[in-house]
Amino acid sequence: MSEILGAAVIGLGMMGQRHARIWAELPGTRLVSVHDLDAQLTAQAAQAYDVVGAASLQEALGAPGVDMVSVCTDDRYHLEPCVAAAQAGKHVLVEKPLALNLADADAIIAACHGAGVTLMVGHVVRFDPRYQAAKQAIDAGEVGDIIHVYGRRNNILASGRRICGRTSVAFFLGSHDLDLMRWFVGAEVVRVYAESSRKALADVGADDTIYTLLKYDNGAVGCLETCWAIPEGVPNTLDARLEVIGTAGRVAVRVGDESLEIASQDRARRPDIAYGPIVCDLQHGALRTQLEHFADCVRTGCPPLISPSDARAAVELCVAIHQSLDAGMPVALR
Ligand SMILES: NC(=O)c1ccc[n+]([C@@H]2O[C@H](COP(=O)([O-])OP(=O)(O)OC[C@H]3O[C@@H](n4cnc5c(N)ncnc54)[C@H](O)[C@@H]3O)[C@@H](O)[C@H]2O)c1
Repeated sequence: MSEILGAAVIGLGMMGQRHARIWAELPGTRLVSVHDLDAQLTAQAAQAYDVVGAASLQEALGAPGVDMVSVCTDDRYHLEPCVAAAQAGKHVLVEKPLALNLADADAIIAACHGAGVTLMVGHVVRFDPRYQAAKQAIDAGEVGDIIHVYGRRNNILASGRRICGRTSVAFFLGSHDLDLMRWFVGAEVVRVYAESSRKALADVGADDTIYTLLKYDNGAVGCLETCWAIPEGVPNTLDARLEVIGTAGRVAVRVGDESLEIASQDRARRPDIAYGPIVCDLQHGALRTQLEHFADCVRTGCPPLISPSDARAAVELCVAIHQSLDAGMPVALR
């Protein structure tokens, strides 16, 4: 493996374009090849970065110099590119959630394990300095024994309309916080109970909101609010919270009230300054940190911050949420 790691990006939608840009911009990596089922997206990215615009997954993986692959296809289609990348001996960074069911999650984990390649799932919020600082405070004992954890991740309706045909609000948004809450509490969930509401997206048969109650095996309780139907007029497209109350203290993360607001005559907006801000013409923020971390793990062989079993646990919890919604009752996990 050369000093500069080569990356392929599969899936060139919103997230894939960001991965491609960061691999091209990081000093220790380079973008080698790109592929999307949409040939126009492939051609545009190939031209923008002067890299191989592959007509197939195999062509992208086989381009000379590819060490690792970002899989940025939509939630339903992570299995095939992840398994193919592993079988080709490439390290795999796949966007969250790992999969929409446990069979796919296990097949991806097994393929990467069998091939001896690094697998990391892009639970990017773990790389947001606010959540990192909260975790450090918890680990330092400032909160004491955790009593409860509350998570919220709400998006505007345009996000729900764009995505809802291919995944659910639990998988698309909730998987972030289910991972964070488990990371913070340091315990496994033993019981899940979910209720949903379906009004704004009823025409397409999708839930607007899912509320979930969780019981952890250390006695703590959790409550998760996920919604992708907040009105377009709000200034911030993402409204997220994470609050932990313990016997000795509390930590609270608030995302969405960022200290930058830009207003026109009819609307104010608070642009993202945490996950992908452009600084000096380079993409910075938590996504860049995540990709840098993954490349470091590939280079050094160190285990990634998000282990395969962490990513599997998030999938398991999303599956349990849907089982609870279908059954109308709590679901026991272990
Ligand atoms: N980390 C985050 O904050 C975050 C934010 C948004 C989305 N995501 C995740 O990123 C992934 C991509 O989301 P997006 O919003 O970029 O989706 P998108 O719909 O904008 O892009 C997906 C792209 O994948 C392509 N594609 C689908 N199947 C393919 C295949 N088999 N081979 C090649 N290309 C294929 C599609 O043509 C499309 O261009 C999803 O898993 C999503 O949950 C993560």
